[in-house]
Amino acid sequence: MTFHLLILPGDGIGLEVTAQARRVLDWFASHRGLDIEIEEGLIGGASHDRHGTFLTEETKARARAADAVLIGAEGGPKWAHLRTGSGPEARSGLIRLRRELDVYANLRPIRAFDALAGDSPLKAEVIRGTDFVILRELTGGVYFGEPRGIEDLPDGSRRAVDTQVYTTPEITRVARAAFELARRRAGRLHSVEKSNVMQTGVLWRQEVQRLHQAEFADVALDNMLADNCAMQLIRDPRQFDVIVTDNLFGDLLSDGAAMIAGSLGMLPSASLGKPNASGRRQAIYEPVHGSAPDIAGQNVANPLGAILSIAMLLRHSLDLEAEAVLLEGAVEAALASGLRSADIARPGAATVGTRAMGDGVLAALEAAA
Ligand code: IPM
Ligand code: MG
Repeated sequence: MTFHLLILPGDGIGLEVTAQARRVLDWFASHRGLDIEIEEGLIGGASHDRHGTFLTEETKARARAADAVLIGAEGGPKWAHLRTGSGPEARSGLIRLRRELDVYANLRPIRAFDALAGDSPLKAEVIRGTDFVILRELTGGVYFGEPRGIEDLPDGSRRAVDTQVYTTPEITRVARAAFELARRRAGRLHSVEKSNVMQTGVLWRQEVQRLHQAEFADVALDNMLADNCAMQLIRDPRQFDVIVTDNLFGDLLSDGAAMIAGSLGMLPSASLGKPNASGRRQAIYEPVHGSAPDIAGQNVANPLGAILSIAMLLRHSLDLEAEAVLLEGAVEAALASGLRSADIARPGAATVGTRAMGDGVLAALEAAA
C-alpha cells in the first residue's frame, strides 16, 4: 500500500532540512522497498506570500488526506507584524494545523548521543546515557483557550488575556498515551504540572492519578511540579523515562532539555492523533527547532532533527521499527565519524554544511545496509 506523505518545508531553514530528510526517504524507497508518494505544499510565511494566509483550506484538506505530514519550520521577522490580531488568521499555520488534525500527543525524545556527550554545555557525566521522551499535550491549554486578546481600557492602558483551560477528556487521552508509552519503555512516568498554583494543574493531577489507579498501576507514577522539573532536567536527567505535561510547559521544558542532546537542532518530534478504526492516526513530524532566519539559505543548518523525525515516521506511522533503528544508528555513526554542523561543533572545530551532513547519514546507511 502506497504511503502518502505531504511535506510542508515552510520558511527559513525548513527548506534546507526537509530537503535532506527527503533524500533519506528516497534512500529507504530505493534500498528498502518503501512504497511512498511525496507531495509538497506551503505553510507559514511561504503560504502567506502566495495566498495571503499561513494555512490554506486546500493545504488543510491535503494534510488531512495524507498518511503523514512532514513540516520544516515556520515564520520569521518578515511576517511577525501579521501575528498581532487575536483571530485565527493571525495564528501560525503550524498551530492551526496541529489543532485541525487533532494531533494531541507530541512526542519529543531527548537522547544524549554518545558522540556529543562531551559537546553539551552540561557535564558529560551528568548527561551520558540520558534517554527519555517528553510527551507534550499539543492541542489544548493556553495555546487555544478562550478568551484571548488585547483590549484598550478606558484609562488608556491596555489589558491582555490568555486562558489556560483543560477538560478531563483532554487530560485523560494524553495521559493514556503517556502510560502506554511508559509501559513500552522503562515503565516510569513523571506527570508535570503546577497544581500548587493552577486549577488546571489540580485537575491534571487528579485525572492522571485516577487513570493510574484504574488502568496503569504497573507503571511507576511520580507527580512533579513544573518548576522542579526544569531543575531536575539539568540536575539529573537520567531519572526520567517519560514526562507528560501540558502544551506550554512541554514547549518550555523541551527547549531546555534540548541542550542534553547538544542542540535544539538535534531534536525530532512526532505529533499523533487518535487511531481510527483501521488503526491509522493523523501524524505530523517536525524538527523542534524553528526557522532560524539568521542562518537560512546558507547551508549551515543542522538537518539531523528533520532526519531523526523521519526515523519517528518510520516507527510511528509505518511500524518499521528496524528501519527506524537503522536510521538512528546512521545518525549516531555520522556523529561518531566526527561530522559536526555549526550548532554542535566545539569552538574552533571543523564544521560541515547541511547537505554534507545529509551525505554523512546516507553514507552511514550505505555502510550499515
Ligand atoms: C514548538 C515551537 C512552536 C510552539 C512555535 C513555533 C509556535 O516553539 O513547536 O515548540 O510554541 O509550539
Ligand atoms: Mg518550542
